[in-house]
Amino acid sequence: MDMRISNQSIIDEWSEFSKEDLIAFSDDGDSDRVSLLDPNIISLAGEIKGRRVLDAGCGNGYLSRKLAMLGAVVTGVEPSNNLFRYCSEKEREAPLGITYMQCDLSKMELNEEYDLVVLINVLMDIPEYQTALVNCIKVLKPGGEVIISILHPCFPGSESDWKNTGYVQVREYFDAPPIKQKYGYLITRPIQDYFNVLIENSCVIQRVIEPRQLEWLSECPCAAILNDKSEKKALNE
Ligand SMILES: C[S@@+](CC[C@H](N)C(=O)[O-])C[C@H]1O[C@@H](n2cnc3c(N)ncnc32)[C@H](O)[C@@H]1O
Repeated sequence: MDMRISNQSIIDEWSEFSKEDLIAFSDDGDSDRVSLLDPNIISLAGEIKGRRVLDAGCGNGYLSRKLAMLGAVVTGVEPSNNLFRYCSEKEREAPLGITYMQCDLSKMELNEEYDLVVLINVLMDIPEYQTALVNCIKVLKPGGEVIISILHPCFPGSESDWKNTGYVQVREYFDAPPIKQKYGYLITRPIQDYFNVLIENSCVIQRVIEPRQLEWLSECPCAAILNDKSEKKALNE
């Protein structure tokens, strides 16, 4: 890992999150979240009315607000200046009982305990991801749960390959270099790195979901070979 990439340098980049990007991302989350992630997160979370939820690395707070509207008592943690300010302003304008805290998850110290921690597309942004994840596990009540979403580490930046060629090449799965993003870096790691932190910290892995979106697949050249409708249907099931 490039030593210039630190938790703080990445947080500093996210701190510059622009107004235009806030508008583009939208208050409900972007299209991937709305159609792919959120239905799975909400279904995995189950009945959350009255449960204490920590939205770790909450970004613009869209999920904190969705979960609060479903009756959860939510704390959102976001280290970056502009996104933290945005969340706090939204809460002032239309209160949902959400508490926001500005801090780096790897330095987080909380006295509260939570029924559920959600970490949605955050761990790939954090160089010190082990400490961040352990801190999230530490604040769980006995029997509490963590829901983690990461971009699939096999396919970093592969969307354009897939659309152009119909296949992706797996290049450096085990030692992939961080990929620069508009804000911070995408740091992909083998799935074992995350699973082992969870297992070493006495978590039980209950469910793994790799969601897929057939409309997106249909834009790809390889979808031509799936022109039998029954095959498409089978893929979607
Ligand atoms: C891709 S965004 C995801 C935000 C939100 N969870 C969502 O799904 O929209 C990554 C988030 O991680 C946050 N982040 C980066 N480094 C962090 C750290 N060390 N501790 C906590 N959050 C961090 C960024 O500020 C940003 O809000």
